[in-house]
Amino acid sequence: MDVSGLAPIEQTALLTEYCRALDARAARPILGDPLADATVRQIDHDFTALGATPSVVALVALRAKMLDERIRAFVSDHPDAVVVDLGAGLSSAVFRVDPPASVDWFSVDLPAVVALRAAVVPSHAHARTVAASVLRPDWTANIPAERPAFVFADGLFAFLDKDSVVGILTRITDHFASGVVAFNDYGPVGKANQFIGRLTTSRNASSPHRQWNFPGFKDARQPQSWNSRLRLIDESSAMHRPETALFPTGLRLASRLSRRVPSIARKARVLQYRF
Ligand SMILES: C[S@@+](CC[C@H](N)C(=O)[O-])C[C@H]1O[C@@H](n2cnc3c(N)ncnc32)[C@H](O)[C@@H]1O
Repeated sequence: MDVSGLAPIEQTALLTEYCRALDARAARPILGDPLADATVRQIDHDFTALGATPSVVALVALRAKMLDERIRAFVSDHPDAVVVDLGAGLSSAVFRVDPPASVDWFSVDLPAVVALRAAVVPSHAHARTVAASVLRPDWTANIPAERPAFVFADGLFAFLDKDSVVGILTRITDHFASGVVAFNDYGPVGKANQFIGRLTTSRNASSPHRQWNFPGFKDARQPQSWNSRLRLIDESSAMHRPETALFPTGLRLASRLSRRVPSIARKARVLQYRF
């Protein structure tokens, strides 16, 4: 499958899927998603240029695992739930979570990525795709509004500007009657951080690391000031998880340090808000 026509923002889906594929190939995986490896093997692309360092692989795998756990808990409490994956890319989360038949799952992404997804990711009986930009309000049009909703974004918000993230959160709470919104987050990301990230990861102009846009925030309650319907219910750092034992050495040391330095813990957090 040729992916040379994807725009740089769409190519970011290749990095996260490749990370999960590398994790699946590891002797001791963190997430262990064999479908990610099967998906990547169908795509003709130089994945090595994407900047999938061992640390990025570990963090991408672990945040997916953390989000999976949160989705499972929500659908266990709400068997009539809808689950919405914003910027779903090629993720096989629906297969990993394996929700009951009473749950409907929607994977939203830009049309070119949804077309690629249809070609390389198996279809799932309870999942549908939505080919739309989440920057347009009509992405919600065909998603039931009255059922409890778990809306999550794994790796999307970093590439959007703050107004876009605020707009998406508003669209979620305007459309869905109740539910949870969850996303991975890096804490505050200053211009200097973004610049260093680009220098140290990849020189490729279309590298995912060059698409970074979101300045982030320190206090996990900040989104409550953007949207008064949101209430923070969970702030968890990948750096505090037992899987850090499987991290590469430098990242493992950082995870130890993160116990005393909260700014390090914030760099790899998963946040959940009820509405
Ligand atoms: C880093 S990837 C993450 C993909 C997936 N969540 C994962 O974990 O592999 C970011 C995804 O967001 C999608 N995306 C970026 N801007 C978008 C937009 N405005 N509307 C919908 N999807 C978007 C990209 O196409 C890409 O698939």
